[in-house]
Amino acid sequence: MSKHLADYGSAPVNFVRGNGSYLFDRKGRKFLDFQTGWCVGTVGWKNREMAEAISAQAREGLHLPPWFRLERHEKFASRLIELAPGKLNRVFRACSGSEAVEFAIKAARAATKKSVIVTINGVYHGHTYGAGSVGNAFGNVLAPCDGFAKVRMPKSAKQEAETLREIEDLFARGDVAAFLSEPVWTNAGCFIPSPTFYPAVQSLCRRYGVLLAMDEVATCMGRCGKLFGSELWGIEPDILCLGKSFTGGYATMAATMVTESVFKKARGIPSHPTFGWAFQDLAAVEKNVEIIVRDNLAENAAEVGAYLLDLLKPLESLKKVKAVRGIGMTLAIEFRLPIVVLIAAKCYRAGLVVEFTDLKTLFLSPMLNLTKSDARKGAEIIQKACGMANLSD
Ligand SMILES: Cc1ncc(COP(=O)(O)O)c(C=O)c1O
Repeated sequence: MSKHLADYGSAPVNFVRGNGSYLFDRKGRKFLDFQTGWCVGTVGWKNREMAEAISAQAREGLHLPPWFRLERHEKFASRLIELAPGKLNRVFRACSGSEAVEFAIKAARAATKKSVIVTINGVYHGHTYGAGSVGNAFGNVLAPCDGFAKVRMPKSAKQEAETLREIEDLFARGDVAAFLSEPVWTNAGCFIPSPTFYPAVQSLCRRYGVLLAMDEVATCMGRCGKLFGSELWGIEPDILCLGKSFTGGYATMAATMVTESVFKKARGIPSHPTFGWAFQDLAAVEKNVEIIVRDNLAENAAEVGAYLLDLLKPLESLKKVKAVRGIGMTLAIEFRLPIVVLIAAKCYRAGLVVEFTDLKTLFLSPMLNLTKSDARKGAEIIQKACGMANLSD
């Protein structure tokens, strides 16, 4: 437990540097990184092009607030608009995923003059008050703000029909501003909706005049095998939040994209924080996005992610494993018992860093440029940690 930091327990590990898909501790011990800062790592640690872009910007030696008409910001916003699905046409500049979600809530409420945001229960959308209210960050410790309604996460065809009915009932009340959700419920344990769910939600949104807001903080920039998770389901959000892989771990930067119509109707909401797209951050994010697109890292995430999933799927033959799920570079292994801390510790001792979303669910979010040989190496460590050698376990 930290002495002066406000935390509630932290892992006693001193990683001191990274390189590609690897982390190194003080003693020079090498660890394969399947955590990558929580869905953050993209082009690898200590990437040379990233380091050059960041150093070049540092040598320019200035910071200007986003109040100025900054050519470079305008250029990067238009690049994002070219890449993003649908008719998104304006970009709010943010510093973190939580802040991107706050912009989404504010834009939706101001544009519709309605208050309620409907979302899926049990999903994390950030730590700030709005994001914490729309998501599950507060647990039983803080009461959420008013104006948020949650529906059950659909995990079967029957549940999907029920959830869609619940959503329609809420929409029919006439006070809903937006449906806000992740394209894949990553931090809830990598639950992947059926291909029919989001198109059905989008139809309901259009029918009832409710905005569709996708929180792509964790799924953007190729994480789920497409540049944007929304592309998996062929949907065109009115609002889209970017964070995490947007930066590759080299900046604290985020964004909220909205359609021109949402922007016009929401006119007057705050548009940027002091550090929104600070040049130092922007230099890194521009380069990260450039490399992801140039090197087709979304495709690599899809291909190597599927390969890793294939290697891990046999774990389902173990009694203690309930399910192995994955799409692109987000994967989860759900156990029947709360043994994940033990499994994570075994992985760590064998040189692999993993994450868990709860005591029964191991979560993996490797680099987007992971190689097949590193995927195999990681999968073998996980198999061993799960006792795969002894199938009767
Ligand atoms: C889906 C999603 N939205 C928002 C956030 C909040 O992002 P940040 O921690 O950068 O504020 C997270 C963080 O885990 C997330 O997973």
